[in-house]
Amino acid sequence: MRRERQIELLSRVAEAGERLEGLYGEASMINDASTYVDPERFAIEQRVLFREGPVFFGMSADLAAPGSWRSMRFDGIPIVVVRQADGSLRALVNICRHRGAPLVDPQGQGSGLRSFSCPYHAWNYALDGALQARPAAPHAFDDVTANCNLLSRPVAEEHGLIFVRPSGDQPIDVDEVLGGAADDLGAFGLRDYVLIDTRRSEWNMNWKLVFDTFTESYHIRTLHRTTLAPTFNSEATIFEPFGRNLLTVGLRSNVGEEFTKPREEWNLLPYGTIQYFLVPTGLVVHQLDHVEVWNIEPVDVGRTRLTTSLYAPTEPHSERSRNYFVKNLDLLCQVTGTEDFPMMEDIHRNLASGALDSLVYGKIEPPLAHFHREVDRAVAAGS
Ligand code: FES
Ligand SMILES: [Fe+2]
Repeated sequence: MRRERQIELLSRVAEAGERLEGLYGEASMINDASTYVDPERFAIEQRVLFREGPVFFGMSADLAAPGSWRSMRFDGIPIVVVRQADGSLRALVNICRHRGAPLVDPQGQGSGLRSFSCPYHAWNYALDGALQARPAAPHAFDDVTANCNLLSRPVAEEHGLIFVRPSGDQPIDVDEVLGGAADDLGAFGLRDYVLIDTRRSEWNMNWKLVFDTFTESYHIRTLHRTTLAPTFNSEATIFEPFGRNLLTVGLRSNVGEEFTKPREEWNLLPYGTIQYFLVPTGLVVHQLDHVEVWNIEPVDVGRTRLTTSLYAPTEPHSERSRNYFVKNLDLLCQVTGTEDFPMMEDIHRNLASGALDSLVYGKIEPPLAHFHREVDRAVAAGS
């Protein structure tokens, strides 16, 4: 993030008052509890947000070398993205054209792939999806004239971020998806980051509760009383919408120290957890010395799969330095996995009971209101 931008964001904090009320939104919002638990609404969200896309898929660092691949599902469609020999990416539907078997683990990642070999009857495809061989059956298919290459989908890679469109063939304009955030994100140099490690988990909660988890700091002083509250501010966060996406910056409690320096020396990075919410599938979090990324895959209206990865700016120079990053990832998964997501599972269960009609997002939680308004808008347009 460029220095002027850091100063601009910190100025908002400096002027926001002791309780950061200057960062509040204009109004609270009431939302229907059913938006989290209604299967019909879920089906529309799946179609308009996940299936039609474009969706954030992962980082360039996930697919560092030719033959690296990663797979995920969007509204059920299994997509595999694979790095080609020339460095470009291909997004393919992970379904064999013979009789529909998955070619690679539908929710995994790996490296060193030279071709796709179907685990059912061993049809073989090049990394660009072209059918290369139907082994051991030289005449069994010689009357088939249909194209049997893997189905290809639009994919785009920019600023170290990868986006795919799971259905259709309309190309993806990354700068349009990122709106005003392209400049910020470009300046982080994410293209050069390296993947340290990845964790996967599944939770009994609606996918929107993942965004809800990270979009406000208001819960820190209570839910994270002993873990995060000693270090992090529990008041409002800096918030900026970009299209249907949003930026928030969570602040450390000691951010005020920076304001004793001359303004032109202000530096946000040591005090800020800078989060880019890429609706509907991702969250890219810039921390002072690393980046954390969450990928969100709804399984059904009440179940969500998460992939959590940590990236370092350069390859760690020693085992000790690698361990430092791995410990950071473990700590992240531990706090969210024992404090945030169990709470979200309880909330989901409560909302699914039908006992409550609505929820309240306060002025202290403006990113929540923006996120839900944007999802509502997409659902209304797609209904
Ligand atoms: S389903 Fe893939 S080779 Fe038969
Ligand atoms: Fe939290």
